[in-house]
Amino acid sequence: MSSIRNLYLSHVAQTSEMSMCLEVSHASGVYIYGSDGKKYLDFNSGIAVSSLGHCYPDVVDAVKHQVETYMHTMVYGEHIQAPQVEYAALLSKVLNNGLDSVYFVNSGTEAVEAALKLARKVTGRHEIISCAGAYHGSTIAAESLRSDYEFTRHFFPTIPGVSHIRFNHFDDLHKITDKTACVILEPVQAEGGIIPPENDYLTRVRERCDVTGTLLILDEIQTGFGRTGFMFAHQKYEITPDILLIAKGMGGGMPIGALVANISLMSALAKNPALGHITTFGGHPVCVAAALATLKALIDKPFINEVIQKERLLKTILVHPFIKEIRSSGLFMAITLKSNKLLTPLIDKVISKGVLIDYFLFDDASFRIAPPLIITPDQIRDGAMVILAALDELMAEDIKL
Ligand SMILES: Cc1ncc(COP(=O)(O)O)c(C=O)c1O
Repeated sequence: MSSIRNLYLSHVAQTSEMSMCLEVSHASGVYIYGSDGKKYLDFNSGIAVSSLGHCYPDVVDAVKHQVETYMHTMVYGEHIQAPQVEYAALLSKVLNNGLDSVYFVNSGTEAVEAALKLARKVTGRHEIISCAGAYHGSTIAAESLRSDYEFTRHFFPTIPGVSHIRFNHFDDLHKITDKTACVILEPVQAEGGIIPPENDYLTRVRERCDVTGTLLILDEIQTGFGRTGFMFAHQKYEITPDILLIAKGMGGGMPIGALVANISLMSALAKNPALGHITTFGGHPVCVAAALATLKALIDKPFINEVIQKERLLKTILVHPFIKEIRSSGLFMAITLKSNKLLTPLIDKVISKGVLIDYFLFDDASFRIAPPLIITPDQIRDGAMVILAALDELMAEDIKL
């Protein structure tokens, strides 16, 4: 075992007993290089983060420039910092739907926390509705939104007032009432195994929220920044949330998140009481500079327009007797296998052959494909052929299903 691996296992806190333990040397474009000289095609983007691939030149330049200009100068909300201002103005322009005020935080789960606080404060209500099978982050409020009792009970008490509806179940919408402060959902459920909204589900949720005076919070932390073939999935599904949550792909590889709302709504965090939500590092100028370079590249380059074509290509190649179903919304894809017994052997094989695919939190029969949007058709073919070869090998092994 390499000594760095030993030190990693001894001193870096682990999230499970099954770490992939890929020892990273460097990364560039759609490839991550191991210290053993092995090259891995990244079919995951670090869970929907590296949408522009690794070390995208404009992002690297922006980071270098900002590091040399200034880094942290004061807690969020006190100093005028050009990267934040430019980013917020550009994002408002891209959204063009009244969501014109950006509150910068450091991560997705912090965006969730702040949005729940804002919704409770603005509505004066405490009840929150989230969807079964959703993941919104790992802080205590975000975990309270999880519907999996067997998981959350280990961290009880979670926050009170949370109940669940089933995604895509129109019958459950009556549970949104005039006591509900907010409904939080993902426009496409990610960790449930890429579940797109059916028919006009999101429109019906929006309407029910309007009738009951409930705020609609859309978590676009995985779906944002081009993943579904639109800058944001809510544009694809033609609804406007009251509060939009973004993170992951936002930073081009740097840690950042934000909630975005109309300025009149957002201003509730600034008064009565003042400092209703504060953060030391939220909107760190280096991270925002990276986010700004990312947003500009996504606007200027054709990557988002190519997403649907690339999605089609993947679906055309990935045909195999062991593949039962593919669910997708752009380059955001769940491949469901004929049996969940195939999942771990397949993922292990594919990774050992140099293509990074991954599990979902709540779907034990499917694996995830969410490559960088910059991936070329040839690279898509390469990765998909590796997956097919691994499936063929599993077939030959005659595993009992
Ligand atoms: C949909 C969704 N919301 C929120 C989060 C939490 O984001 P973070 O890990 O940046 O806190 C995640 C993370 O995977 C996510 O997928």
